[in-house]
Amino acid sequence: MKIALVADLHGNLPATLAMEQALERIGADEIWFLGDAVGKGPSNAETCDWARQKCSLWVGGNWDYGIGGKEYAADQYFWDQLGEERMNWLNTLPREREVMISGVRFRLFHGRPVTELMQVQDDKEKLGAAFTGPGGVYGGVIFADSHRPFFRTLREGYIINTGSVGNSIGVPKAHALIVEGEKDSAEPGPLMMTILSVPYDTQAAVDIAMADDGLPHRDSYIREITTGIYSR
Ligand SMILES: [Fe+2]
Repeated sequence: MKIALVADLHGNLPATLAMEQALERIGADEIWFLGDAVGKGPSNAETCDWARQKCSLWVGGNWDYGIGGKEYAADQYFWDQLGEERMNWLNTLPREREVMISGVRFRLFHGRPVTELMQVQDDKEKLGAAFTGPGGVYGGVIFADSHRPFFRTLREGYIINTGSVGNSIGVPKAHALIVEGEKDSAEPGPLMMTILSVPYDTQAAVDIAMADDGLPHRDSYIREITTGIYSR
């Protein structure tokens, strides 16, 4: 069983579609969504619908709740693109999920608002604390939010960041995590966990943004997707 975990699509449709093609090519059986379908980029209705239709498990991210819950007046652009029905879907996504794969119980969440793990890749104590959640102590944590793939083992277990599909920091390609193992199986068995890195038509993504004068912080978005340097 090959499971793809994707997050941080952020309204970048060319990146999302390139990822979809790559997942078809490698034969992913299921796609799970770890939050932030929307915000930052210009194609929010499209990436929201993609997450909804193509994925079979969902957790929400800080941008999904911020926009879906109408937290900031500055997000009017995104509200106009999405409409009430999509915003309601985003705002009512679960904050976390758990799943057993090959005998390891994984805790899945986006990052914020559940916990702030953005800049703690070297902090074993903070990373270790994430293994304790609503379901007790987990054997693995999979999250997103920082837009940068990351894999580490601690004495608590595996801690993995999926990276971002549409707004990667570091290497500016579309990223996802592939987990191969037995879903819903408590029996310990081999697990393979791989970062998938997919080039996409960045210029097409820039062109869509350039055609939309209403996109807030457009220059920062373009700088991020073309350079991988955090800009906002
Ligand atoms: Fe994000």
